[in-house]
Amino acid sequence: MKTKTTGALFLLLELCGVSSGLLKRHFYVNVKKAWADARQYCQHYYQDLSSFTDSLEETQFLNDAGAQSSNAWIGLRREAGVWMWSGGQNASVMSSGEQNVNSNCVFVKKSDQMLYVDNCSGSHAFFCMTTYAVVQENMTWEGALEYCRQHHFDLASLNSTTKMDAASGQMNQAQTQLVWVGLRFLAGRWFWLSGDHLDLAGSSGFPEHQCPAANLRCGAVDTHKKTWMARDCEEQLGFICQ
Ligand SMILES: *[C@@H]1O[C@H](CO)[C@@H](O)[C@H](O)[C@H]1NC(C)=O
Ligand SMILES: *[C@@H]1O[C@H](CO)[C@@H](O)[C@H](O)[C@H]1NC(C)=O
Ligand SMILES: *[C@@H]1O[C@H](CO)[C@@H](O)[C@H](O)[C@H]1NC(C)=O
Ligand SMILES: *[C@@H]1O[C@H](CO)[C@@H](O)[C@H](O)[C@H]1NC(C)=O
Repeated sequence: MKTKTTGALFLLLELCGVSSGLLKRHFYVNVKKAWADARQYCQHYYQDLSSFTDSLEETQFLNDAGAQSSNAWIGLRREAGVWMWSGGQNASVMSSGEQNVNSNCVFVKKSDQMLYVDNCSGSHAFFCMTTYAVVQENMTWEGALEYCRQHHFDLASLNSTTKMDAASGQMNQAQTQLVWVGLRFLAGRWFWLSGDHLDLAGSSGFPEHQCPAANLRCGAVDTHKKTWMARDCEEQLGFICQ
């Protein structure tokens, strides 16, 4: 089983935002690229360039983005005169900033955390994002992993109750009380596929300090109790991708 580490090399900042029950995680990638190349990078290693869909989310994103070390692209650009998100949605919000009719791609300026437009072939660092999605199919842990890697990015890493709370709007759609997440016991230890820090203290029913039984080596989340569980990898459960 491969773990994805390449994208994390440039990870300096992780932001969380909750909108419409969908948990988004934003990653600041400190490599300068043209907008289209930045988008390609995000789509390969995360999901897409960062977007926000309402003014609340925009405000939160821009506030949190203050810690970035340089100007950075987001997933907003003008196509045939219409502002569009990289994912294809029309953009309904755009905070003030310089309007340059000859430039079509949007970046967050470090100095004032506002949105500005630049020539799309200009070079900037950028923000990528990942969102969480519950898949309403029952699969084994490996099956779920394969599905997530094919259709999304990976099985979700929900390494804190905060993230579980934020994702619970999604998790409520699951048809099983337990859903697979990207938590696995291999080579003598439990770990998140994302490489996120793992702290199982306080989680009930989890054999933190002992080798789990051979059939309890895949991690699920109990969507009602918001705790992690060690389960039989062959069990057929719903799952959450990111
Ligand atoms: C997006 O905006 C354009 C121009 O205002 C409009 O023609 C198009 O139908 C809109 N698309 C969606 C999906 O709202
Ligand atoms: C954007 O930059 C490229 C390369 O520097 C240049 O060829 C192009 O004319 C610029 N486009 C606009 C609209 O300014
Ligand atoms: C998944 O399993 C649950 C519980 O056994 C069941 O209620 C649900 O119908 C199953 N979903 C699918 C898509 O098979
Ligand atoms: C989750 O992982 C991130 C990234 O490694 C880490 O910063 C954070 O402290 C972790 N949260 C918990 C509760 O372990």
